[in-house]
Amino acid sequence: MVITIRNEEEKDYRVVEEITREAFWNLYTPGAVEHFLAHSIRKHADYLPELSFVIELDGEVIGSIMYTKAKVVDEAGDEHQVVSFGPVSILPKYHRQGYGRRLIEHSINEAKKLGYPAIIIGGFPYHYHPYGFMGTKKYDISMPDGKFYTGIMALPLYEGALDGVSGKIHFSPAMYPDETGLAEYDATFPPKEKRVLPCQADFEKAASEIDTNSYA
Ligand SMILES: CC(C)(COP(=O)(O)OP(=O)(O)OC[C@H]1O[C@@H](n2cnc3c(N)ncnc32)[C@H](O)[C@@H]1OP(=O)(O)O)[C@@H](O)C(=O)NCCC(=O)NCCS
Repeated sequence: MVITIRNEEEKDYRVVEEITREAFWNLYTPGAVEHFLAHSIRKHADYLPELSFVIELDGEVIGSIMYTKAKVVDEAGDEHQVVSFGPVSILPKYHRQGYGRRLIEHSINEAKKLGYPAIIIGGFPYHYHPYGFMGTKKYDISMPDGKFYTGIMALPLYEGALDGVSGKIHFSPAMYPDETGLAEYDATFPPKEKRVLPCQADFEKAASEIDTNSYA
């Protein structure tokens, strides 16, 4: 079995969106929006194609990760550039076999090589703690509402990279596409049933969980 990780190319766009749709369908909401995000994000100025990768298994694309610029704005209004990733997806039949780990670790190493100071993301802590991501409270970086959430995590990419970087994290507007075209776009894929599932409520709960840890 040959595993290849390489930058996404135009020929991968549709399959990446198909995989993203399959991976996220009914997971966080009935249906999914992440394939539309994958579709829209590439056109945005904050998108980082050099950090967007696909993973292939014997030549078949089975997963992808996409990066965008983000910034921490401090009290003085100074901006500190960081990067963020998402969506990241692996085709469901290949989950928990280490492919996501390979893809995420590869992208982290490439972000290091490119000299970025840190990656800041939103997601389930159990997905990202294995790579060293910690709640951004540790770095005194809050969401724009001033709150610290367990689901907002940072990974400094070199020693001291986040020393003196605190404030509010602003993810790119690319991460919040106008969903007007979503239904029409989704209709270009095979029909899939939208269902209300308990995992969606778990996500709602996790997404609003305040970080009560004290990071001494
Ligand atoms: C998240 C995702 C990309 C991970 O890919 P994957 O190939 O299944 O992950 P791996 O097998 O490489 O897992 C690496 C580690 O992450 C953690 N992890 C991954 N999925 C997990 C899960 N469902 N529950 C708990 N821990 C999990 C584990 O520590 C795992 O190591 P282990 O299997 O040795 O315990 C994949 O599950 C996916 O596409 N999910 C749907 C979309 C999604 O939720 N994306 C992330 C949005 S925040």
